[in-house]
Amino acid sequence: MKVLATVFLMAAIVAVFSFYTEADINTKAALGKKLFSEKILSKDSSVSCASCHKPQFAFADTTAFSVGIGGKLTKRNTPSVLNMKNRPYFFWDGRAASLEEQALMPIQNPDEMNVSIAEAVQRLNNSTVYKKLFLKIFKQAPNAKNLGAAFAAYEKTLETVDSKFDDWSNNIKKLTAQEERGRQVFVGDKSKCFECHRMEDFTTDEFKNIGLYNGKDLNDAGLFNITKNEADKGKFKIPGLRNIAVTAPYMHNGMFATLEQVVDYYNNPAQFVKDGINTDALLQQPLGLTEREKKDLVVFLKTLTDKKYLRK
Ligand code: HEC
Ligand code: HEC
Repeated sequence: MKVLATVFLMAAIVAVFSFYTEADINTKAALGKKLFSEKILSKDSSVSCASCHKPQFAFADTTAFSVGIGGKLTKRNTPSVLNMKNRPYFFWDGRAASLEEQALMPIQNPDEMNVSIAEAVQRLNNSTVYKKLFLKIFKQAPNAKNLGAAFAAYEKTLETVDSKFDDWSNNIKKLTAQEERGRQVFVGDKSKCFECHRMEDFTTDEFKNIGLYNGKDLNDAGLFNITKNEADKGKFKIPGLRNIAVTAPYMHNGMFATLEQVVDYYNNPAQFVKDGINTDALLQQPLGLTEREKKDLVVFLKTLTDKKYLRK
């Protein structure tokens, strides 16, 4: 009797709790947020978007390649999905033109969630909770289009513009002397960083080759895979640098574990990769940064972290 009463009580608590959380979900973005950590959108219900895009690490992953369905590894490093709102295309090779379109791709990807969109939509329709939520918010049962729209609406809310750097540019706070020296290195001619990492999210949204393609051990041709244009071999989209201190490891293949290594690489790419093919003209010669300039640059990059990710 006692056991039964406990079970009943727990069921009641769960019911009330899910009633409240469901009642809280009234917008496309809120629904997208729930879906972002929904595992039923993967073949064996073991993986969600948040398994790889980990919210506590600025929606990136902490390993070079992420674990998808059945323990399979992704072919590229998982990028952050913060500050996506103003991006003109998505993925390292830009193969998706909108967040709506992008969101349906990991669901079907055999290395990631491995479920057809028809099946994913079916599963949502079979869930009374989701069916109700879609009807409430979209006035439609779940379908491919509103599923993509919910994810996109959520991702568009993930803008992070509250960093120390933002306080500096809004005249609220001063940078330390070292941060300011790093900023000058970053925007200066010697480092070249600003040629590619500028605008509000520190990317010009172009595709560039920084020398990480040699057709041998470094064999991901990036943009070339999409365009089949020889000149695009080894080009990847320039990632934004907001929250970069939180999203290690770095590059499309996660080959650098720290920002210090990234800066050492840029300072003299040939020291790491001797036979890079089609490397950008800006990076053909060593930059010649001093030890102090390299340290200052890393300290500056850390000012781009949104306050919600600052570790105490
Ligand atoms: C198994 C790990 C994994 C899962 C699960 C996953 N992703 Fe990703 N995501 C990646 C990887 C790896 C890339 C980069 C792939 C590439 O560029 O070829 C990526 C890229 C992206 C991008 C593009 C970011 C940019 O900088 O262009 C977005 C947006 C995104 N994912 C959203 C999602 C959403 C939404 C889901 C769930 C429906 C999801 N991801 C599920 C690993 C994952
Ligand atoms: C010619 C354009 C260009 C220049 C110059 C450049 N970058 Fe990059 N940056 C890129 C591209 C493209 C990538 C992605 C490359 C890849 O994954 O193969 C990248 C990646 C990065 C990453 C890793 C981002 C991530 O999410 O993994 C960091 C950090 C970075 N750059 C910082 C810098 C700094 C600091 C400088 C100056 C010393 C600099 N970049 C100069 C184009 C450039």
